[in-house]
Amino acid sequence: MDVEKVRKSFPLLNKKIDGKPPIYLDSACVTLMPQQVMDAMNDYYINMGSCGARSVHRLGVDVTRKCEEVREKIRRFLNAEDRNEIIFAKNSTEAINLVANSLTFENNDTVITTDREHNSNQVVWQNFRRSGNIKHHQTRSKKDDTFDLEGFKELCTRNVKLVSVYHTSNLDGHTLPIKDITEIAHENGAMVMLDAAQSAGHKEIDVKMLDVDLLCFSFHKMLGPSLGVLYGRSDVLESLSPFIVGGGTVTKVENEAIEFEKPPRKFEGGLQNYAGIIGGGAAIDYIENLGRQKISVYENALRGYVSKRLGDIHGISSIGVNKDGQGGGIYNFNIEGMNPHDVALYLDSSANIMVRSGMHCLHSWYNKKKIDGSVRASFYLYNTMDEAKIFAEKIEELLKVMC
Ligand code: ALA
Repeated sequence: MDVEKVRKSFPLLNKKIDGKPPIYLDSACVTLMPQQVMDAMNDYYINMGSCGARSVHRLGVDVTRKCEEVREKIRRFLNAEDRNEIIFAKNSTEAINLVANSLTFENNDTVITTDREHNSNQVVWQNFRRSGNIKHHQTRSKKDDTFDLEGFKELCTRNVKLVSVYHTSNLDGHTLPIKDITEIAHENGAMVMLDAAQSAGHKEIDVKMLDVDLLCFSFHKMLGPSLGVLYGRSDVLESLSPFIVGGGTVTKVENEAIEFEKPPRKFEGGLQNYAGIIGGGAAIDYIENLGRQKISVYENALRGYVSKRLGDIHGISSIGVNKDGQGGGIYNFNIEGMNPHDVALYLDSSANIMVRSGMHCLHSWYNKKKIDGSVRASFYLYNTMDEAKIFAEKIEELLKVMC
């Protein structure tokens, strides 16, 4: 991968902060945006500007056509069967909430998640559980924090309606054995929803091969704007009730009667983020031009270098599953005796290194482990080996000062 060429596309990487370019290692939160995506969004504002799926004038028709082209692009990106299986949402959190509120739960219906879910796939189920609508069980990770397939098998009984799990973790880049999970879930009549927020921009995803029923991801974690996508197999979407309803979701409204559109429209209430959708299409183009396999190998090399160099140093403890080669480019750690936010502020002020610190929206996991937080460096396709070296040097420097 020609990373220097890649970096030229990213205006923020070519900007100086205090006289030096930023070293951006917070892509698991939000990725930077290439000029091509900005141009695609500007094209909407400059040349289309209007609303889709409604107005018949030529600007409106252009918006509709462009957005449907992106829907088709996403279908191909996920290897889904039909573009009508692709729904636009605000983000992955909204997509998961949409599913939670669109499914019909009866007493004793159970939802299974892991014990390492992002709040987006944790809080919603806890909230439902509090209201008495569902039972919510969590799989318990093994001692080394990897997924316990045998434990999952025992937990996944006939009462389980939905298994909703992450694909790649925002904690440590660990990836679950999804094919095994779907097999067990389907044998027991449960559906599977995959939170692919941390994997969609990093590895090939094939919804047919993985055999998932539902899947969500966010464009802002894969070079695009703030926008989410929900995929649902057509028979699953047909069976769901719409959640956010209003303009665009109906074919007929009378005071006493409503007829809803077919998917995806019945789930896309109100005007949509058209510029965002078009930008999302450009983000897919950018990623596909580089190739997801290449991206994955590249970011794993950066992460692998850092974890090898810092891994054995006394005073540094890595967080979560410390395995290379899984995608996600995430290195999560703590320095003994130091507050993670102080480490992040030191990296920023001393070397323009932007990392994330805290509980990374995984509060239940951190609280269970009695860890107050940690520092997370997440590498992506625009980071360089030099940046990885500077990051490791700065951490070593900090350790010397502290000891
Ligand atoms: N999911 C985002 C992160 O992990 C917010 O940083």
